[in-house]
Amino acid sequence: MHLLPHPPPLCFRQQKIFFCSLFFSLLYVFCALTAEGENNFEGIESKFSLRTPADPDEDVCYLVPGQVNSLAQCNFNHTSKTFVVIHGWTVTGMYESWVPKLVDALYKREPDSNVIVVDWLVRAQQHYPVSAAYTRLVGKDVATFIDWLEEEFNYPLNNLHLLGYSLGAHAAGIAGNLTKKKVNRITGLDPAGPTFEYADELTRLSPDDAQFVDVLHTYTRGSPDRSIGIQKPVGHIDIYPNGGGFQPGCNLGEALRLIAEKGFGDVDQLVKCSHERSIHLFIDSLLNEEKPSMAYRCNTKEAFEKGLCLSCRKNRCNNLGYKVNRVRTKRNTKMYLKTRAQMPYKVFHYQVKIHFFGKTNMTKTDQPFLISLYGTLDESENIAFTLPEVSSNKTFSFLIYTEVDIGDLLMLKLQWEKDTFFSWSDWWTPFTFDIQRIRVKSGETQKKVVFCSRDGTSRLGKGEEAAIFVKCSEQPINRKRGGTKKASKENSAHESA
Ligand SMILES: *[C@@H]1O[C@H](CO)[C@@H](O)[C@H](O)[C@H]1NC(C)=O
Ligand SMILES: *[C@@H]1O[C@H](CO)[C@@H](O)[C@H](O)[C@H]1NC(C)=O
Ligand SMILES: *[C@@H]1O[C@H](CO)[C@@H](O)[C@H](O)[C@H]1NC(C)=O
Ligand SMILES: *[C@@H]1O[C@H](CO)[C@@H](O)[C@H](O)[C@H]1NC(C)=O
Repeated sequence: MHLLPHPPPLCFRQQKIFFCSLFFSLLYVFCALTAEGENNFEGIESKFSLRTPADPDEDVCYLVPGQVNSLAQCNFNHTSKTFVVIHGWTVTGMYESWVPKLVDALYKREPDSNVIVVDWLVRAQQHYPVSAAYTRLVGKDVATFIDWLEEEFNYPLNNLHLLGYSLGAHAAGIAGNLTKKKVNRITGLDPAGPTFEYADELTRLSPDDAQFVDVLHTYTRGSPDRSIGIQKPVGHIDIYPNGGGFQPGCNLGEALRLIAEKGFGDVDQLVKCSHERSIHLFIDSLLNEEKPSMAYRCNTKEAFEKGLCLSCRKNRCNNLGYKVNRVRTKRNTKMYLKTRAQMPYKVFHYQVKIHFFGKTNMTKTDQPFLISLYGTLDESENIAFTLPEVSSNKTFSFLIYTEVDIGDLLMLKLQWEKDTFFSWSDWWTPFTFDIQRIRVKSGETQKKVVFCSRDGTSRLGKGEEAAIFVKCSEQPINRKRGGTKKASKENSAHESA
């Protein structure tokens, strides 16, 4: 502040007021935290609204810890599952529009369940650091409520699933850590990053907080201390859709299109687009059961982009969202997938491996290609991708994906595009590679297909026509009929590449 040469007096005063109110708010949180009591229902400020399938967007009935009648009054079903939805920070002090959508989707999938929305709106509309510090009190409220359900009504915590968004994810984690018995599951929907990235496990969501903790990371762009969503894995399974940084359909162009269509009212929505995508991905998993998105374990985003992680062996792949397989490994498991820009988000992932034969030594970087896949059910043409490097006599592996369910693959076309800018070197050096085989592995079906050039070898020239490859006639038969030793050797070399 003192770095500003001549602060306008009014602005300066406003900032003082801001920091002053921030100080007192934090002081209040601190005092409230040090005055924690045992099972004191009086101190609970969060409200527990049992929503109904008929009225998913209204708070019509509250479950009140300590008031036994409230459960019967709200028609709480003691034998079915309970979902507890915890919202995050709010600028407006109102529920965001995703709340009724998630409630509705939960009831559509589990009609007999109890869907409870935790209302901590008053604490959630403070300055961010104040609201962030309040997650501890909200978590404590939720834990007291859960202990009460368990002790008073013998409600099995095995039926309890907490879902927390942003700051709500950490509140859920704290709740899970404070309950006397462990809750069944916590789903963290893009848990908040600021003030939590470097926090210890007690003050944020962590795998200890429930029998099973699954997390979606959708807006983790920028340096760790700037990222809206927490970057490090905090559950048993941490899924990073589209790398976790930023989501498709949330870019500026999309924002402008939406503004043109809907006006400026939804600007707030656009800012949070990637952050909130975590919720919509979960809703997708509830509503579109027949189109489950698969995520794949991978050590790095870069390895995933090369298509190296599409294996399902030993629990390496999993369903995103509601029907996740509970895989509890000792270390955190990072998983990746690509998605569409709208619901249903599912895409089909393929690893493509190509060996580029070249007579001369040649290396080119950032080369644009188009690939078309044809299968038993459908086709997907001109999928664009860029290879960071292509060089003679080397094998390259990369990931492509498509929204279309192609079925079993039959044919493939590959085209090497001209650079978008005019390049003299393109003009006088004919860049060509020879390709004999292309290997494709499907993530969703785990099937592998080898494509062969129809003429034994196809020439792929930059800026020229597409080369066509068809499914090779059955490899084992080929080999039996005297496929040369050289060919099978080369096969196994590719297999291990
Ligand atoms: C409570 O849920 C169970 C299933 O968990 C269902 O069979 C039963 O009909 C529900 N009871 C009421 C009163 O809705
Ligand atoms: C709470 O979290 C701490 C730290 O992660 C862990 O050691 C402890 O076992 C947890 N307690 C419960 C009841 O889950
Ligand atoms: C690439 O390999 C082929 C045979 O496999 C060979 O004829 C050619 O000279 C090699 N190219 C380079 C640049 O070494
Ligand atoms: C290509 O380069 C490699 C090493 O860079 C060299 O060993 C090889 O002889 C070269 N091949 C040709 C055909 O120039």
